[in-house]
Amino acid sequence: MQEILAKLELRRAEARAGGGEKRSKAQHARGKLTARERIDLLLDEDSFEEFDMFVEHRSTDFGMEKSKIPGDGVVTGWGTVNGRVVYVFAKDFTVFGGSLSESHARKITKIQDMALQNRAPIIGLFDAGGARIQEGVNALGGYGEVFQRNVLASGVIPQISVIMGPCAGGDVYSPAMTDFIFMVRDTSYMFVTGPDVVKTVTNETVTAEELGGALVHTTRSSIADKAFDNDVEALLQMRRLIDFLPASNTDPIPEIPSFDDAGRMEASLDTLIPANPNQPYDMKELILKIADEGDFFEIQEAHAKNIIVGFARLAGRTIGIVANQPLVLAGVLDSDAGRKAARFVRFCDCFNIPIVTFVDVPGFLPGTAQEYGGLIKHGAKLLFAFAEATVPKITVITRKAYGGAYVVMSSKHLRADLNYAWPSAEIAVMGSRGAAEIIYRSELGDKDKIAARVKDYEDRFANPFVAAERGFLDEIIMPHSTRKRIARALDMLRHKELNNPWKKHDNIPL
Ligand code: HXC
Repeated sequence: MQEILAKLELRRAEARAGGGEKRSKAQHARGKLTARERIDLLLDEDSFEEFDMFVEHRSTDFGMEKSKIPGDGVVTGWGTVNGRVVYVFAKDFTVFGGSLSESHARKITKIQDMALQNRAPIIGLFDAGGARIQEGVNALGGYGEVFQRNVLASGVIPQISVIMGPCAGGDVYSPAMTDFIFMVRDTSYMFVTGPDVVKTVTNETVTAEELGGALVHTTRSSIADKAFDNDVEALLQMRRLIDFLPASNTDPIPEIPSFDDAGRMEASLDTLIPANPNQPYDMKELILKIADEGDFFEIQEAHAKNIIVGFARLAGRTIGIVANQPLVLAGVLDSDAGRKAARFVRFCDCFNIPIVTFVDVPGFLPGTAQEYGGLIKHGAKLLFAFAEATVPKITVITRKAYGGAYVVMSSKHLRADLNYAWPSAEIAVMGSRGAAEIIYRSELGDKDKIAARVKDYEDRFANPFVAAERGFLDEIIMPHSTRKRIARALDMLRHKELNNPWKKHDNIPL
């Protein structure tokens, strides 16, 4: 028996060695951890249960029958993050560059099926060269199977992708269908085709970093939701993110004991809004002051900075925050902001996470660049997302809520449950000067007359009372009591039930 046990240990050791010491060292030399080292950091200590470590590919083309490595380039299994179950697969770049064979795909789809059936998040750690070139259509079919499961699991369990090395082909399409993509700076790249193919086809000379590095994907393309400095930071931050998320769309949102008094007053918020309505202020200050222990996990912070989205907790329970940022473009809504916030709102709605919206928005960004770029449809995405969301929705207007943007930003008209405003709120079709200059165009030559008209419009609309008189605002609240008011409202809405009419699925303006 001892011999049999020793044999098992030997085979396990072989599998754990992956592509061998030389390749593991090369991985470290590039500043990357190996697949197993990554899993160890991601999961609670000793919680990882590995599956399929002896699986090998079945290819016989191009001499592949002579080159088999147990595990076949991906480590799969399940474990826990702070005691909660997650499924995980980690591409092993030391084995055929982490490329996907038919057998490798089966390992991943097994984990995907288990995650969906058992309703727990799935995390993919990517570091791979796409389809196993030697396998041809078998590898392509394998990707198809993975993609199909990504789609079926979408909106049922959270799916998270972490890009931790060069990723090409199918290893970028599968992440693209998951809820969040994170990258590691300087060591990870994502592209459908790499620099060499780009050079051949378009004659462009571009580095991997310029084509698909973390900077490009967190700023310009917005493919990635966040970037981290190294593998260790990325994996520890994934643990933090998992703590915010429910296990599935039928699970309650996580509730962790909070030592931060839900009734905490924040006197400094009473002076957050500057006296001059055109002067910006930092909306993040408000977010950090209302969140439990100032803990805010921001999503897409480097893209469309005029809108802020991310997760926080109030009284220990997860909330999604959407907020205009007056510091950037005066907090205006543009195409990028519309897309970014709409996707976040839909994620929250899928997973029953209440949405708290802070509004200070001067409207939609005018101009040909925006109109030609599809502002109408991109803005409509956010409108659509807020309107269809059935989770508890609480809105606080801190200052401007102008025009269509007032309606879009989780207004009462889109079934928000509680709409609050600070006394500094201004709710109107547009700013007072613009309004006066349009209504009284014939008086434009007379500065004094126009100034009086502006003043009239200001007196009428530069306050929250007109909206409050209509019931479009439920209450005008003191800034210092914002945290308490929202926490109480969330508690009151805890058992909210609201259903949209039955449909196969909606047709959001894509
Ligand atoms: C088989 C592969 C491989 C692949 C890499 N390797 N990619 N083996 N199939 N797709 C192997 C290499 O032969 C090498 O083996 C080892 O992995 C490391 O690769 P290197 O090239 O030495 O590493 P590096 O210089 O870091 O470059 C990494 C890379 C590059 C950028 C990922 O390898 C690359 O461009 N690979 C091909 C990418 C690609 O075009 N894939 C197909 C995409 S199409 P040894 O033995 O030397 O260690 C696709 C279709 C899906 O995925 C369609 C879905 C819609």
